[in-house]
Amino acid sequence: MSRSIAARWRDRLRAGGRGGRYSPARGMVELALSHAYARDWPGRLWQRVPGTSRVAVVEHRFALLPAGVRRPLRLAFASDLHLGPTTSPSVLDVAFEQLGTLRADVLLLGGDYVFLEANAARMAELHARVSAVPIPIKLAVLGNHDLWTTHGDIEDALRRAGVDVLVNRSVRLPAPWADVAIVGLDEPWTGTPDADLALAGTEDAGLRVGLCHSPDGAVSLACRGVPLMLCGHTHGGQIALPGPRPVILPPGPYSQRFAWGLHRVGEMQVLVSRGVGTTELPIRMHAPPDILVVDLVPRPD
Ligand SMILES: [Fe+2]
Repeated sequence: MSRSIAARWRDRLRAGGRGGRYSPARGMVELALSHAYARDWPGRLWQRVPGTSRVAVVEHRFALLPAGVRRPLRLAFASDLHLGPTTSPSVLDVAFEQLGTLRADVLLLGGDYVFLEANAARMAELHARVSAVPIPIKLAVLGNHDLWTTHGDIEDALRRAGVDVLVNRSVRLPAPWADVAIVGLDEPWTGTPDADLALAGTEDAGLRVGLCHSPDGAVSLACRGVPLMLCGHTHGGQIALPGPRPVILPPGPYSQRFAWGLHRVGEMQVLVSRGVGTTELPIRMHAPPDILVVDLVPRPD
């Protein structure tokens, strides 16, 4: 009997999915938070603070489309939704409302769909929110928090919502952008990123756009003919000092340096979103939520 109780505790203190770097200490913190944050009260409390439900829409434009592609391509990017006790429902409402108004051609999702368990209620909410977005093409990668829980349930909810989940895999967009490949790289810190697998079949693509949860995907995709990569993961530090100067950033060579915004690694431009939701605490300071709109237009002749 006592062995079975010990086994049950051991199960709760290790990752529910294939994600690495899930320490017993993290397991204990998450177990404690799942009890302390019962009924998701932190996010509901935080949304009462004026202004906290605003989501910035950050626009970028890149002249990267092959000259033969006549029609501009608009990508909408949302990351780090973190459905769970620390993300306020109203910030998710606002973010998804905005996604619905962007008239984008492709929705890209950057991973970290939950904080804590991928339970049935969160999966139903994820499915409902994503399937309601009126963007015809939906593509996604997974984040570290997804891989630490039952990520198969997350992948299932996304697929049922019309999303193609890319784990070290690329897809070609339909005409008139058939010369464009979206390259989905697995999570660099906790997953098994494989750039060769991810890029397979894209050799003749006129443009490859990288999609990865973390800026550290640039370690694998820079210098591989991918001129632009979209990512999240950092939350802009989530809690930053005025400036803004992030206090804590996730580990990783580029996560530590690229808290948000546009950066360059060799010939690759790395565009980092602060994401929508939060983890551990419901609070963001000097790191407001954002979604990205990326307009790709033809290269100059
Ligand atoms: Fe995150």
